[in-house]
Amino acid sequence: MNGRTRIDYDTLVKTDRVHSRVYTDPAIFADEMEKIFHRGWVFVGHSGEVPNTGDFRLKRIGSQPIIMVRDQSGKVQLLLNRCRHRGAAVCQYDQGNLRSFKCAYHGWTYKLDGSLAGVPYPEAYGEDFQRDEFGLTKVPRVESYRGFIFASLSPAGITLKEHLGRSAQEIDLFAGFSDEDEIEVVSGLHKYNFNANWKLAVENSMDGYHPNVTHESFVAAVMERIKSHPSPEHGKAGFNPDSFSTGGGGISKDLGGGHVMLDYGFRIYDPLNGDPLPTVRAINQRGEAHMAEIAARVGAERGADGLREGATHTLIFPNLILIGLHLRVVQPVSLDYTEVCLYPTTLKWLAPEVNEVRLRSHEAFFGSGSFGGPDDSEIFERIQTAAAADLEPWNIISRGMNHERRDEEGLLVGAMTDEITQRAIWRQWKKVMTQETGASARKRASHAAGERG
Ligand code: FES
Ligand SMILES: [Fe+2]
Repeated sequence: MNGRTRIDYDTLVKTDRVHSRVYTDPAIFADEMEKIFHRGWVFVGHSGEVPNTGDFRLKRIGSQPIIMVRDQSGKVQLLLNRCRHRGAAVCQYDQGNLRSFKCAYHGWTYKLDGSLAGVPYPEAYGEDFQRDEFGLTKVPRVESYRGFIFASLSPAGITLKEHLGRSAQEIDLFAGFSDEDEIEVVSGLHKYNFNANWKLAVENSMDGYHPNVTHESFVAAVMERIKSHPSPEHGKAGFNPDSFSTGGGGISKDLGGGHVMLDYGFRIYDPLNGDPLPTVRAINQRGEAHMAEIAARVGAERGADGLREGATHTLIFPNLILIGLHLRVVQPVSLDYTEVCLYPTTLKWLAPEVNEVRLRSHEAFFGSGSFGGPDDSEIFERIQTAAAADLEPWNIISRGMNHERRDEEGLLVGAMTDEITQRAIWRQWKKVMTQETGASARKRASHAAGERG
């Protein structure tokens, strides 16, 4: 972004409204790549996706294609997928297991840790050719929290801990209090795409206002099931099916730093699947010990939620979403084309039948033949198309502004259907987008110098 095209984000994002240009301007998309995805912390993958030596998955950090691979020493490496010779991608498969990466162009071969193992006919490079200078490029900063691997392409900046802040507690809940190597992310991957801007999926994932309307058919099916198969769990929680239409007992929360969550007062999938917890307690001794530990840490009820289907519904800014038991990554590809990956998780220490229940409840709403994804994607494309009607360009995010309050933790909270989450996301977006980066400052300075000269 140079001095001439600098965007005034204050004119685009107000407390209660957002200008639709944020979804349609290619210059803003390019600026997002630099400031949000290449400078800040971005989730890349979970260590449970690559449990064995040589396991790899292709990932992206903003526009950068990345290989996430477990090397010979057991460490997870993040390597740029670009041969150091003349730039061909060295890995073509989305995932798999390899002993090395061999470039298909001239055969330069790299070890799992990215170092250059060898080149064909090396004599022609002469004596001074240093193999160790030509390994695959490593991502400058990589940090892991409970197996959640985040990276930043900037060599300097805040720590991952500072970035996560309060949202780290939601990762704890999501992890079901399992150790890092007990979270399995190998049950397959559900990937879909839509022709609209990436931020629409991020906002939507934390939108407690839309489900009854957008997902009307799913809600009707759940209601029918609750009425015909009442669960004792609902009795205990004082659950009233009729209150679902206004968000039940749930609340929306601003965790700070653009991280937000919807905190449900009940679990809507229970009646579809029954209660697996007695199975854990009866079959799995380890499970019983974990139940006691969890109950001591967060209370029996919240712990039980965590075991059934994950305990949280959280956005880790900018694009990692934890819902139920799956990790979801919203990957911007271009201004109006986005890919979304859903990775369901299982826990190593749970009885297989409980993990099965977890997966079936995930599929009911989030699977490829389910209710959720297709409904939402259709809406994103309608918004992208309608952004052309910019005679009146503002989208309104004011719902519930008049009754925002602080909870006992000091977090800003509101009703489930309020737009606290949307306002918090946009506040952080504007903050990051108005931060000066070293690169943009340098470009502006040299541009100004050029104009003077
Ligand atoms: S481009 Fe990879 S070996 Fe030549
Ligand atoms: Fe939805």
